[in-house]
Amino acid sequence: MRRRTTVQSLITVATALLLIVGTARSLLDNFTLKSNDRQIFQFYSEPEVYRQRRPVFASSKDQIGESCNVSGGKWIWDNKTYPVYTEESCPYLSNQTSCQRNGRPDSFHQKWRWQPDGCNLPWFDPLKLLDILSGKRLMFIGDSIQRGQFESMVCMVQSVIPEGKKSFQTIPTMEIFKAEEYNASIEFYWAPFIVESISDHATNHTVLKRLVYLDSITNQGKSWQGVDMLVFESYAWWMYHKKINKSYGSSDDIKEYNVTTAYRWALETWANWLESNINPLTQKVYFMSMSPKHLRSWEWKPGSNENCFNESYPIQGSYWGTGSSFTIMKIIQDILQELKIDVTFLNITQMSEYRKDAHTSVYGERRGIPLTKEQRADPKKFADCMHWCLPGVPDTWNEILYAHLLQNHRNFL
Ligand SMILES: *[C@@H]1O[C@H](CO)[C@@H](O)[C@H](O)[C@H]1NC(C)=O
Ligand SMILES: *[C@@H]1O[C@H](CO)[C@@H](O)[C@H](O)[C@H]1NC(C)=O
Ligand SMILES: *[C@@H]1O[C@H](CO)[C@@H](O)[C@H](O)[C@H]1NC(C)=O
Ligand SMILES: *[C@@H]1O[C@H](CO)[C@@H](O)[C@H](O)[C@H]1NC(C)=O
Ligand SMILES: *[C@@H]1O[C@H](CO)[C@@H](O)[C@H](O)[C@H]1NC(C)=O
Ligand SMILES: *[C@@H]1O[C@H](CO)[C@@H](O)[C@H](O)[C@H]1NC(C)=O
Ligand SMILES: *[C@@H]1O[C@H](CO)[C@@H](O)[C@H](O)[C@H]1NC(C)=O
Ligand SMILES: *[C@@H]1O[C@H](CO)[C@@H](O)[C@H](O)[C@H]1NC(C)=O
Ligand SMILES: *[C@@H]1O[C@H](CO)[C@@H](O)[C@H](O)[C@H]1NC(C)=O
Repeated sequence: MRRRTTVQSLITVATALLLIVGTARSLLDNFTLKSNDRQIFQFYSEPEVYRQRRPVFASSKDQIGESCNVSGGKWIWDNKTYPVYTEESCPYLSNQTSCQRNGRPDSFHQKWRWQPDGCNLPWFDPLKLLDILSGKRLMFIGDSIQRGQFESMVCMVQSVIPEGKKSFQTIPTMEIFKAEEYNASIEFYWAPFIVESISDHATNHTVLKRLVYLDSITNQGKSWQGVDMLVFESYAWWMYHKKINKSYGSSDDIKEYNVTTAYRWALETWANWLESNINPLTQKVYFMSMSPKHLRSWEWKPGSNENCFNESYPIQGSYWGTGSSFTIMKIIQDILQELKIDVTFLNITQMSEYRKDAHTSVYGERRGIPLTKEQRADPKKFADCMHWCLPGVPDTWNEILYAHLLQNHRNFL
C-alpha cells in the first residue's frame, strides 16, 4: 500500500519534472527564435547562466539552408542590435582597427546589419560558439585584413568570459586568444601570401620589396597541422604591381611573374599541402574571398576625386569597384573545385564592396604607428581605404563563418 503511494507520487514528480523541462525547452525555443533581441544576449551573459554549461542548441533559425546565398543582399540600418561589442569593452583591439580611439567622429559604420536575400543569418551567440570550439583551435591565416577578422572574432566572444578565465598571447607570427574553461583557442597566423615569402616576419616585414617562394609552404604549414578549423585568406599583398618577383625551386632563380600566374601557383602549392595534411573527418577548411579597397571615390561618386575619407554611408544599389579582381576570384574557384577535400568558400566581396564608409581612413595606423595630427589632416595622402574599423564589417564576415561552424557542428553530432 505504502509502496504504491510512493510510486504514484514518484510518477507525479516525474510528470511535473517533464512539464518543467518542457517549459524550459520551449522558453529556450522562444529565446532562440526571437534571437535578434539584445536582452537574450544579456540573459545568456549572466554569470550564473554562464556557469551552467549547456549543449549547443541549434534551432531551425540557426540554419542557413543549402539554397541560401548569403553573398547577395543589402545592408540595413539596425542601431538596436549593432554594434555587438564596443571598442571600450574589448581590450584586445589593436591600434590599427580602433577608429574611435584614433579620433573617428562618427560611428554610423558600426550599425548596419547584413540582410541576405531570402534568408536570415543566425544570431551570433558567443556561448554557442565557445561550445563549438570546446577543446578545439580555430585559426585565421593570412594578412592584416585577416588579423582584423581575428580581432573581431575575439571581441565577439570575449565579453562572456570572466576575467582570469581568458588570455591573449603574442608569439612571433602568431596571436592566440584562449578561453580556459572551454580549452578553446582562437588564433591568428601571419602569412600574407599563404606560401612563404620575404615578408613573413611578424612585425618587421618588407613592404616595398616583395618576393614569394611559390613552392614553399612546409615551414609555416607545420604550425597549421592538426588545427581543427582553418580560415585562409590572401589577396592584398599580391595586388601591389601587375608583376611580382617569385622564386620556384632554387632560390637563385628569381623572376618577375604576372601576379595572376603566381597566385595560381601559390594556391596550387597550398592545395597540395591541404591534400596531404588535412583530415577532412576531423578538420574543416574555409577560404575568405577578397576584401575590397575603396581608393577612388569617382567609382561610386562620378566626378569626385577623393577616396574613402569622410564617407559615412554604404553604397546603395549594385556596385563593384576596381579593387576586387574577378580574375583572382576565378582562380580561387578553379583551385577549390579541383581540390580533393572540401573547402568552404566564404564570398564576402560583394557585401564589403558596398561599405566605402567602414574603412579606417585616417583613423588607423601606418606601418605600425598611429597617424600624426598632420597626417590625419591630409586624407588624400594618408587615408587607409583597405583596412576596416572595428566594430564593423569583419563582424559580419564572422557571423557568416559562425553560421557555417554551427551547421558543421550539427552535422558532426
Ligand atoms: C549569390 O548572389 C550574388 C550576388 O547577388 C551573385 O553574384 C551570385 O551569383 C549568387 N550565387 C549563386 C550561387 O546564386
Ligand atoms: C537609431 O536610429 C534611429 C533612426 O536613425 C534614430 O532615430 C535613433 O535615435 C537611433 N537610436 C539610437 C539608440 O542611436
Ligand atoms: C597604440 O599606439 C600607442 C601610441 O603609439 C602606443 O603607446 C600603444 O602601445 C599602442 N597600443 C597597442 C595596443 O599597440
Ligand atoms: C585542449 O585542446 C587541445 C586542442 O586544442 C587538445 O589537444 C587537448 O587535449 C585539450 N586538453 C584537454 C584537457 O582537454
Ligand atoms: C628589419 O629587417 C631588416 C631587413 O631584414 C633589418 O635590416 C632590420 O635591422 C630589421 N629591423 C628591426 C627593428 O629588427
Ligand atoms: C624584382 O626584383 C628586382 C631586383 O631586386 C627589382 O629590380 C624589380 O623591381 C622587382 N620587381 C617587382 C615587380 O617587384
Ligand atoms: C602576363 O600578362 C601579360 C599582359 O596581361 C600577358 O600578355 C602575358 O601573356 C602574361 N604572361 C603569362 C606567363 O601569363
Ligand atoms: C565631410 O562631408 C560632409 C558632407 O557629407 C561635409 O560637410 C564636410 O565638410 C566633410 N568633412 C571634411 C573634413 O571634409
Ligand atoms: C562571389 O560573389 C561574386 C559577387 O556576388 C560573384 O560574382 C562570384 O562569382 C562569386 N564567386 C564564387 C566563387 O562563387
